[in-house]
Order: sequence, then C-alpha cells, then structure tokens
Amino acid sequence: MGGARDAGWVAAGLLLGAGACYCLYRLTRAQRRGGPGLRLRPSRSAEDLTNGSYDDVLNAEQLQKLLYLLELTEDTSIIERALVTLGNNAAFSTNQVIIRELGGIPIVGSKIKDPNLSIKEKALNALSNLSVNVENQIKIKVYVNQVCEDVFSGPLNSPVQLAGLRLLTNMTVTNDHQHMFTTHITDLFQVLLSGNGTTKVQVLKLLLNLSENPAMTEGLLGAQVDSSFLSLYDGHVAKEILLRALTLFQNINNCLKKEGHLTIQPTFTQGSLFFLLYGEECAQKMRALVNHPDADVKEKVTIIPKF
Ligand SMILES: *[C@@H]1O[C@H](CO)[C@@H](O)[C@H](O)[C@H]1NC(C)=O
Ligand SMILES: *[C@@H]1O[C@H](CO)[C@@H](O)[C@H](O)[C@H]1NC(C)=O
Ligand SMILES: *[C@@H]1O[C@H](CO)[C@@H](O)[C@H](O)[C@H]1NC(C)=O
Ligand SMILES: *[C@@H]1O[C@H](CO)[C@@H](O)[C@H](O)[C@H]1NC(C)=O
Ligand SMILES: *[C@@H]1O[C@H](CO)[C@@H](O)[C@H](O)[C@H]1NC(C)=O
Ligand SMILES: *[C@@H]1O[C@H](CO)[C@@H](O)[C@H](O)[C@H]1NC(C)=O
Repeated sequence: MGGARDAGWVAAGLLLGAGACYCLYRLTRAQRRGGPGLRLRPSRSAEDLTNGSYDDVLNAEQLQKLLYLLELTEDTSIIERALVTLGNNAAFSTNQVIIRELGGIPIVGSKIKDPNLSIKEKALNALSNLSVNVENQIKIKVYVNQVCEDVFSGPLNSPVQLAGLRLLTNMTVTNDHQHMFTTHITDLFQVLLSGNGTTKVQVLKLLLNLSENPAMTEGLLGAQVDSSFLSLYDGHVAKEILLRALTLFQNINNCLKKEGHLTIQPTFTQGSLFFLLYGEECAQKMRALVNHPDADVKEKVTIIPKF
C-alpha cells in the first residue's frame, strides 16, 4: 500500500503563542529515494501551507503536526486546508485510528462551532470520514445534537447542511446511536419536505437507517409530519426519492409486523406519520403507484400490504 503512495509533502504552519512567534514548518516525505525521512524546513509564507497536498497520505507525526496547527492557528484559510487534509487522510482506516489516538476528534469537532460556514462544512466532512470507525463514533456522538440543531437552523440545501446530514447519516449506519435521533425526527421530516432533491435523498438515507430498527418505529410513527409528506408518493416524483420513500414505508411496516403491534395505534395522535401512512389518502396513492411505468417502483408497491 505504501509503495503506491506518491512522495508527498505538507507544509504546516504553527502559530505559537498569541501571534508573537509565527513559525512555519514544511514537512517533507523523502520517499523518492526510498527513505522514510521527515525533513523540517523553515519557511516564511503562509501560502505554502498544505496547498496541493490534499491527496497525500500522512504519517502519524505529520498528522500530529497538522492537529497542533489546527489547534493553534486563527488563520481561516489554514484551518480550512488543515481540515480538508485531515478529512482526506481520514478516508484511510489506519488514519482513522491514529487521529483518534492523537486526540484529534475533539480538535476537529471543536471546529463545527466555527461561525464560518466554510470551516464548519470542512469539519463536518472530516468527522464524516472519521465516523466510519465504530470507536470513533463513540467520540463523535457528543456532536450529534449540535449537528442536528445546525442542520435544522442552517441555510436550506447549503453545502454545510448537506455535510451535516451526511455525518448524521454515517452515525446511523449501526443501531448503536440511533436513539439520539428520537427527539429530532419531526425536524428531520421538516427538512425532508422543504429541501430540494439532493437534500431529500440525504435525509431519506438517514430515515431509512432509522426505519430498519424496531426500537425506532414508535418514534418514527409518532412524529408530527406535515401532510405534504404524502406527495412523495406521487407518480411523477423522481425515482431515487420515490423508491426510498416506499422503502421507508416498507421498513416501518415490517417492523410493526415483527413487533406485532398495530395495537399501539391509540398512542399516535392525529397529524402523526402513523395517521398519514395508514390513512385513506396514502392507500389511494399506493393503488395509483401499482400502475407506475417503472418496474422497480411497481415491485416496491406490491410488497406493501393491500388496503
Ligand atoms: C502552493 O503555493 C505556492 C506558493 O504560493 C505556489 O507557488 C504553488 O504553485 C502552490 N501549489 C499548488 C499545487 O497549488
Ligand atoms: C471563511 O473561511 C474561508 C476559508 O478560509 C474564507 O475564504 C472566507 O473569507 C471566510 N468567510 C468569512 C465570512 O469569514
Ligand atoms: C472522505 O473519504 C472519501 C473516501 O471514502 C474521499 O473521497 C473524500 O475526499 C474524503 N474527504 C472528505 C473531506 O470528505
Ligand atoms: C460516511 O461518510 C463518508 C463521507 O461523507 C462517505 O464517503 C461514506 O460512504 C459514509 N460511510 C457510510 C458507511 O455510510
Ligand atoms: C439543491 O440545492 C443546492 C444548492 O443550491 C444545489 O447545489 C443542488 O444542485 C440542488 N439539488 C437539486 C437536485 O436541485
Ligand atoms: C444504513 O444505510 C447504509 C446505506 O446507506 C447501509 O449500508 C447500512 O447497513 C444501514 N444501516 C442500518 C442500521 O440500517
């Protein structure tokens, strides 16, 4: 694996103290001659920092430098580059472990509170890649509520909202932390209904993960959801949305059957997802979809029990 890596470099600037001493280090991986050497070269200009180095795979020492840099600098463009470099490095499973062991997750995590949306987005992206590791998820889960609030209050369809949704989706890939989403389900449906196609698909991925978990079924069905939700089952809806919306219904229905608790119906109030999914209007939409021209859509519909 190492042999395939390009000889790369990253320049890391360290702002020490309160801006009094500004030292820059360029870390060079001297691989061209087969040597594992790491040279430190002083440099003056901040423009040298981390540019063009996004694809490099860094070693533990270099990751440590990058984390120091991230902690100490106040230069937004350096923070942004450092986060992108860390995020790219976090695509590798060994680096996911190294960054955690270096205490990197809280350092990256603190940047999701940055008022600069571009920095916030890069921090969320880096956390998304770090979250692919189960042990990292245990450290990242402390940010779930904050990220939810940001996703619900931030600019609709923005890159930062999408980055937040991707991180949240990664955090629901296993059932371990799904319970943290119980109080956010109604808001998730609101983003689902107000977002554009890209946003809708991402929210649906998250909801689909929740819908496979019987422990989340009651929370999902009890959520107050606007009746415009049912328009997701209109025949003209884009296939990538329609199929996911149908799978959502299918998953919830399967969980209900498994638990055998259609009898919990009385606990759901008017305006809940339960009333929408098991009401007459939804039944009509399902009957209409049986004649949908797309075979995949038709197949999904016929799996759903007849009304
Ligand atoms: C990196 O920055 C230096 C100094 O500004 C510049 O000369 C160089 O072309 C940049 N490299 C890339 C790959 O952008
Ligand atoms: C946010 O950070 C980016 C990246 O450094 C910078 O280009 C941009 O000007 C900053 N925006 C604000 C509002 O400070
Ligand atoms: C995250 O990982 C993927 C590969 O899994 C990679 O394509 C992407 O560039 C990485 N970086 C960020 C910041 O998401
Ligand atoms: C987690 O997020 C990354 C980057 O956002 C993505 O590439 C990856 O596929 C996600 N992993 C899983 C298991 O969903
Ligand atoms: C959703 O909005 C974002 C931001 O305006 C845009 O980049 C994206 O292409 C849009 N997606 C769709 C499917 O329209
Ligand atoms: C969540 O969705 C991903 C694909 O988006 C899938 O790989 C994963 O198994 C799902 N997890 C659960 C718990 O449903």
